[in-house]
Amino acid sequence: MEIQLDEGALLAELAPLLDAPRCRAGLRNLTGDPFFVAFFLTSVSQGEGLGEAAVGMIGQDELAARIRDLPKQEREERGHKERTIDAARDLFPEWFAGDAYRFPDALQGRTYYVEVLEGNRERLRAEGRYSRLNLYLTTTFAYEIMVLLLYRAVADAVRSSPLPAPVRDRVARVIDGILEEEEGHVGVVGQHAALLETPRGDLSRDAESLLDALAELELRDYRVPAEMAVRAVVSMMERYCDPETYRAEIEASARAA
Ligand SMILES: [Fe+2]
Ligand SMILES: [Fe+2]
Repeated sequence: MEIQLDEGALLAELAPLLDAPRCRAGLRNLTGDPFFVAFFLTSVSQGEGLGEAAVGMIGQDELAARIRDLPKQEREERGHKERTIDAARDLFPEWFAGDAYRFPDALQGRTYYVEVLEGNRERLRAEGRYSRLNLYLTTTFAYEIMVLLLYRAVADAVRSSPLPAPVRDRVARVIDGILEEEEGHVGVVGQHAALLETPRGDLSRDAESLLDALAELELRDYRVPAEMAVRAVVSMMERYCDPETYRAEIEASARAA
């Protein structure tokens, strides 16, 4: 099925979720406390690293080759992983032992990533439209929509935070730089259309069956996980509403390990 999806409209529709009072309060607490800024940047780095690895998730070279700019996207996600962790290490060495973050088990990147991926897998299976290509495209789209909304909200909150100006500027600059590249990542609808037009003649059966499953994909298969992803980060931001408890939990994760 041809997908008519207006990414800008979807972003506008989901943006108010991050504007909810508890989410805003969480964002303020997060961006006002160096401990949490270090934690957030390191969590982002972890999530970006999984995004980089996900590019290989299609597991089908004939079709992966048809997806425009895949190596570029992989390279950019790797850059995001590195720039965020480098900024965290430079600005907040007190929470690193050498290169290693002190509370790795509490990081949110992987938890969030797996929650959205598995939630979406389950949904596609229940709807009878699961394939690894469908999962890759719809989950990647969901992450990219979430990233644009969350990173923008964090960058804005950082700019008006009480952090020292050099810290504020560096963090906002890192996030803004990532956002610029992320804007190019949401073009999944074009990829969807290009894949559907793949000439079938020389394809393996595996590739053909992935294209058959792709043809079944519907608009809501992109929209639903995007909303799921945004809601997942909203509840993540709400955790900062009780900063003492959350910080104690993060610190306790190191003792438990
Ligand atoms: Fe990224
Ligand atoms: Fe991205």
